[in-house]
Amino acid sequence: MSAEAIEIVLRDGRHVVLREMTPDDAPAMSVYLARLSPTAPYIVVLPDEVPTPEEYVERIRRYADRPGSLALVAHEPDTAHEIIADCGILAGQHRQLRHTTMLGMSVLKEWRGSGLGRAMLERVIAWARARESVWRIELGVMHTNDAAIRLYESVGFVPEGRRRRMFRQPDGTLLDDISMALWVGPEPPPVQPH
Ligand SMILES: CC(C)(COP(=O)(O)OP(=O)(O)OC[C@H]1O[C@@H](n2cnc3c(N)ncnc32)[C@H](O)[C@@H]1OP(=O)(O)O)[C@@H](O)C(=O)NCCC(=O)NCCS
Repeated sequence: MSAEAIEIVLRDGRHVVLREMTPDDAPAMSVYLARLSPTAPYIVVLPDEVPTPEEYVERIRRYADRPGSLALVAHEPDTAHEIIADCGILAGQHRQLRHTTMLGMSVLKEWRGSGLGRAMLERVIAWARARESVWRIELGVMHTNDAAIRLYESVGFVPEGRRRRMFRQPDGTLLDDISMALWVGPEPPPVQPH
């Protein structure tokens, strides 16, 4: 299920296109993650673990193969294959998990703080709300990632749990994982027996 491409204007006046990621973006995604990783300590992928373009093709196909999934990328209007941000939800593979989606997102350092993250996230949530099959969006975020936690809370995500010392950073720092979720399914949610 596709999402239309749109052009938005950020708070600092820069123009950005938001569009769906395709398998053709695999090389650009590999370059993007290699640029992102050294400046994003809260991303789990370390610089020497960036997937190859071939590996990315498989990842991107997963979004197309699983209904209720959407992956967006952002780029400047004239450079369609220089990705500056991404945001996606991937639905569970098994039938009992297909109404649940896992969210991931990131923005290149030089593009942060201008509203791009919020714009992408709100677009993905609106898309999910319009899909009958998507009921739940969940995510995991490192406990010191204040910017991301504030953003998620501001659009309605609620913390559901904390997995302690889940991440061990290269310098040995141990960080907790905060599980958060947003219900986008039927209201009121179906009754859940005890
Ligand atoms: C988290 C991230 C995606 C936010 O993207 P962004 O484009 O910078 O966010 P926005 O400019 O749209 O800001 C949205 C909200 O985030 C919060 N926020 C953003 N930067 C912040 C900062 N430096 N400190 C505190 N809160 C901040 C604010 O609540 C902000 O609200 P506002 O819209 O009222 O200003 C971005 O910082 C990022 O890519 N970080 C590295 C990767 C990452 O951590 N991804 C999330 C993994 S779970």
